[in-house]
Amino acid sequence: MRCFRFWPALAVISLAACTTAFPQAPNYGNLGRTPSKEEIQAWNQAIGPQGKELPPGSGTAKQGQEIFANKCAACHGPAGEGSQLAPRLVGGRGALNIPTPSRTLANYWPFATTIWDYINRAMPPKQEGSLSASDIYALTAFILYRNDIIPEGQVIDATSLPKVKMPNRDGFIPQRLEDIHDLRARGCGAGHCP
Ligand code: HEC
Repeated sequence: MRCFRFWPALAVISLAACTTAFPQAPNYGNLGRTPSKEEIQAWNQAIGPQGKELPPGSGTAKQGQEIFANKCAACHGPAGEGSQLAPRLVGGRGALNIPTPSRTLANYWPFATTIWDYINRAMPPKQEGSLSASDIYALTAFILYRNDIIPEGQVIDATSLPKVKMPNRDGFIPQRLEDIHDLRARGCGAGHCP
C-alpha cells in the first residue's frame, strides 16, 4: 500500500490518497498538461526572509487602510481585531516560551516578508492574485503600523520590508541547528549532535 499526502497552501484540509501497488506501472500519458511558464511563475513565488524575490512597488499604511477597509475588514474586522470569520491581524503579543503562546502575526511570525508573501498568495480568499504588488506593500505597511512595528509614514517596498524586525524575531530556535552554540540547548548528547 502506498500513501501520498497533499498539503494545500492554507493547510485547511489534508487529502490523503492511498493506492494499492499494481504489478503494472500506471500510464499517466493522458493526464493533465504541462503548465505554462506564467502558471509556474504565479505559484513559484516564495519570498524568503531576505526578501530578494520581492517585486517592485511600494505603499504606506495610509494607502493600506483604504484597501483594508474595502477588501479585508469584512472578515478581519475594521481594525484587524479579527472576527468569527478570520483571525486577528493586530495585537496578541506575549511570550513564546509558555505552553500556549499566542500565534498571532505580531507574536509568531519571525519575518516581515512573510506578510507580503502570505497576502499575495492567499488573500482575499477565492480572489488570490487579484491585488497589485503595491496594494500588498500598502496592506503590509498598514498591518505593521497597527501592530506598532513601523511608524505611520514609513514607505514599505522591496528594500525597506526585509529590514523590518518582527517583535519575536530572536525568540525562535535558529533555522540551522549549527547556529545554536549552547550544545545542551542544541540537544547534543553521547557524542552526537543533531
Ligand atoms: C472571506 C474572508 C476573508 C477576507 C475577505 C480576507 N481574509 Fe485574510 N484570512 C481569512 C481566513 C479564514 C484566514 C485564516 C486562514 C488559515 O489560517 O488557514 C485568513 C488569514 C489571513 C492572514 C494570516 C493571519 C495569521 O495569523 O495566520 C493574513 C495576514 C490575512 N488573512 C490578510 C488578509 C488581507 C490583507 C486581506 C484583504 C486583502 C484579507 N486577509 C481578506 C479570511 C479572510
